[in-house]
Amino acid sequence: MTEAAVNRPSGRGRFISFEGGEGAGKSTHIRKLAERLAAVKLRAIVTREPGGSPGAEIIRHVVLSGMGKLLGPDAETLLFAAARDDHVRTVIQPALAQGIWVLCDRFIDSTRAYQGRLGQVAPGVLNAMQRVTIGDLKPDLTIILDVPIEVGLKRAAARRDGGAPDRFEAEDLKFHQDLRDAYRQIAAEDPQRCVLIDANADPDQVAAQIWTALRDHLLPTAPAASPA
Ligand code: TYD
Repeated sequence: MTEAAVNRPSGRGRFISFEGGEGAGKSTHIRKLAERLAAVKLRAIVTREPGGSPGAEIIRHVVLSGMGKLLGPDAETLLFAAARDDHVRTVIQPALAQGIWVLCDRFIDSTRAYQGRLGQVAPGVLNAMQRVTIGDLKPDLTIILDVPIEVGLKRAAARRDGGAPDRFEAEDLKFHQDLRDAYRQIAAEDPQRCVLIDANADPDQVAAQIWTALRDHLLPTAPAASPA
């Protein structure tokens, strides 16, 4: 893929979100994709939710500590929304406007899956928050990494290296199975934007599938060749 092939006439950057359950490998594959984009001289930033801006990182600390849970599902969702509002306004929108690609570890589908499907926050509440926080902004492409829950939870535990699980890692097995189902449903409902990838495969194969998804969804006219 060449630099010319990936630059958009509008000059606006592309927005790619990564989603999945615990231990799906998002951070590894975001890093790999950022390296590949750098190899074709594309400016890209890597960011995450909840967090990604100084204000949102403070809220991240509150929700992942479990303190948000004490406020109840709607208020906890408001905390995610407040973090997203700051992140979108101060980091994501300015980067896209400058032609910089944004690779975001979790975005709106996390709220749909975790708070909507699992937290049972009403769709009307989620839609209202979505309107306020992101307006018309949607990822151009969402990569959903899918792994069996035993594999994901084992990876998450290895990453913690004996540390305590966070607010969501500590949920029970049914929660994680429902989460996986929720993501599969999101992928099925929006195939234009979402690509479900088997993240249980060898990491190089997963990275190759992500690159193919990017080419097919964002650059349908680009040549098939990709950097090694
Ligand atoms: P993080 O440590 O970033 O976990 P992971 O590596 O799994 O992404 O923790 C983020 C947690 O916050 C994760 O368990 C999912 C949850 N979350 C929500 O519940 N709703 C949201 O809108 C977002 C962005 C994240």
